[in-house]
Amino acid sequence: MAGHKRIDEVTGVETTGHVWDGDLQELNKPLPRWWLYVFYACVVWAIGYWMVYPAWPTLSGYTQGYLGYSQRGQLAKDVAAAKAAQETFRQAIAATPITDVQGKEDLFQFALAGGAAAFGDNCSGCHGRGAQGAVGYPNLNDDDWIWGGSLEQIEHTIAYGIRNGNEQARNTPMPRFGLDGVLEPAAIADAANYVRALSDPDGVDKAAAERGKATFAEQCAACHGENGQGNLELGAPNLSDGIWLYGGSQEAVTQSIVTGRGGAMPPWLTRLDPVTVKMLAVYVHSLGGGK
Ligand code: HEC
Ligand code: HEC
Repeated sequence: MAGHKRIDEVTGVETTGHVWDGDLQELNKPLPRWWLYVFYACVVWAIGYWMVYPAWPTLSGYTQGYLGYSQRGQLAKDVAAAKAAQETFRQAIAATPITDVQGKEDLFQFALAGGAAAFGDNCSGCHGRGAQGAVGYPNLNDDDWIWGGSLEQIEHTIAYGIRNGNEQARNTPMPRFGLDGVLEPAAIADAANYVRALSDPDGVDKAAAERGKATFAEQCAACHGENGQGNLELGAPNLSDGIWLYGGSQEAVTQSIVTGRGGAMPPWLTRLDPVTVKMLAVYVHSLGGGK
């Protein structure tokens, strides 16, 4: 490879002395001007960058640079700015009556987003990710409400919960007709047939349903209504719409009458702040069944 430097006859330029294949030689041409200037500019820029921004690792950390910039610091600033913006919205929501939130588009959107996040954290374990419910846990998407579907009613239910010992909780229990011996098993079976006939007249033992009618009027209508249409004040579900909290089979309905069920939900105002509870109510109300 290595040969002797010499002047190339054709171009008059010195060669580098490198030779390939015995014949192929390299001219020793200077780098183009423009390339050199760009190169020098990069060097200057790099030195400037080292001085201004964090650049070199040291034993105990890194050089901070004149600007003192750090991505962590930037993040902290961004988070603080976002918090301040949130605080403004939260204060506005606190000051707005719940029925007016929907009318203020930016507050409404903020409440929906905050409510959805809080729902995922606190409620979906029982009510399901999409609030679709499960046996014993009501679906919150439909307009079949046990305790009421207005914004205020939903907010109250969330704030104080259900049958949890809290003074303001929704507390009415259904009597334990079987466990407390109020009704004989035969009377309970008849009442169950009557209740099921309200939504499915052909799917029951009609004679038993007929016998259960009087029991229902005596023992049940006070809470569930004469036609089983339910009573929001008492949390007595509608028994005539074919939507069941605990199931509509003969066994499930019998079990409801025997035990009274006694579904419970914790009070959320003891764990969440009032603005979050309000946003949850707005969110639940917006799921489609709000009244
Ligand atoms: C530990 C389980 C559990 C958790 C967690 C829970 N709930 Fe409930 N929730 C229930 C039960 C059970 C009922 C029905 C009680 C009853 O009346 O029988 C209910 C009822 C409700 C109702 C009333 C529905 C109606 O038809 O009137 C609303 C509204 C509600 N929950 C919202 C929420 C929200 C919002 C959260 C989260 C902050 C939440 N729930 C968390 C168990 C739970
Ligand atoms: C004091 C009021 C009260 C009386 C009286 C009462 N109930 Fe109830 N009933 C309720 C309440 C409240 C619930 C909801 C219980 C729960 O959510 O855990 C309920 C729930 C039920 C359910 C479950 C509904 C579902 O969707 O799964 C059935 C069925 C039922 N009652 C039937 C009866 C029958 C039949 C009688 C009469 C023998 C009766 N109830 C009397 C208050 C009452």
